[in-house]
Amino acid sequence: MDQLEARGENAEQIEYWNGQAGENWTDRNDEMDAMLRPLGAAAIERAAVTGGEHILDIGCGCGGTTLDMVSFVGASGRVLGVDISEPMLALANSKIQQLPENLQGTPAFQLADASTYSFPSRSFDLLFSRFGVMFFADPTAAFANMRSALKPGGRLTFLCWGPPSENDWIMTPLMAAREHLPPTEPMDPTAPGPFAFSDQGYVTDILASAGFSNISFEATSPVMKMGRGQTLEETAEFFMELGPVSRALVDQADSLRTQVKGAIVEAIADRYRDGFVEMGGKCWIVTADNGLA
Ligand SMILES: C[S@@+](CC[C@H](N)C(=O)[O-])C[C@H]1O[C@@H](n2cnc3c(N)ncnc32)[C@H](O)[C@@H]1O
Repeated sequence: MDQLEARGENAEQIEYWNGQAGENWTDRNDEMDAMLRPLGAAAIERAAVTGGEHILDIGCGCGGTTLDMVSFVGASGRVLGVDISEPMLALANSKIQQLPENLQGTPAFQLADASTYSFPSRSFDLLFSRFGVMFFADPTAAFANMRSALKPGGRLTFLCWGPPSENDWIMTPLMAAREHLPPTEPMDPTAPGPFAFSDQGYVTDILASAGFSNISFEATSPVMKMGRGQTLEETAEFFMELGPVSRALVDQADSLRTQVKGAIVEAIADRYRDGFVEMGGKCWIVTADNGLA
């Protein structure tokens, strides 16, 4: 699979997810999936996926939820995972062969920018995403584009993070890292990134402007088991590869990375048990209907 050309208004995200971030997610796929799978399962349940349905999994990454939904839709259904990251999709594609043979034709993956890609119109029953829809430069246009792929009676279900202040898994390492990082300008809270959709009013406006109706938010506050049964230092390295901490560390010197690792070790040490750290989070399961009958 060739890499997507980094152009258009999402060029920065295309570069980011095909660079170090895509590599980190691919290398850490087992840890990421262990952390996010229960949340994805709750969203799949909320979406009430049934046999034979056609699903579009937006920002599917390494394909965890795309493949999890295969057993729900069965051999007569289809699940198309779309993502801008070539390395993540390569891993997703390689997992198809682990499915039972009769289900291997159900999933497929498409390397594309979901905000502009010409999906077949009115062909999906469900637009789904586990934390893959907060990265669009123009979210209203992106959701309008994705809605055009939804059947008239189709529905939308996605997971997004609540405010950083309620997501300990990011705030604890970030605060520890900040002591050592050069000061940065305050960021626009709605700039593309994992926390861009933390405000319900903002998300409601986007979805309503894109034509969705019956928009609702269900809050969940998971306690996530983070790590892979490794040493405290290795668990700290995992935190260094997540969200804003990883972005802040891009192109930083090894000496600074060592200082940051030390600070994170100190910050998580009292919660480290048998190779894992339990951290609280806050996210929304957002649901909506296509505005058409
Ligand atoms: C936080 S990761 C989540 C991945 C996956 N859904 C999961 O839960 O493991 C966000 C994903 O969104 C993808 N993404 C970002 N912008 C996108 C876009 N415009 N079109 C398609 N995918 C996009 C990234 O490449 C990345 O794989």
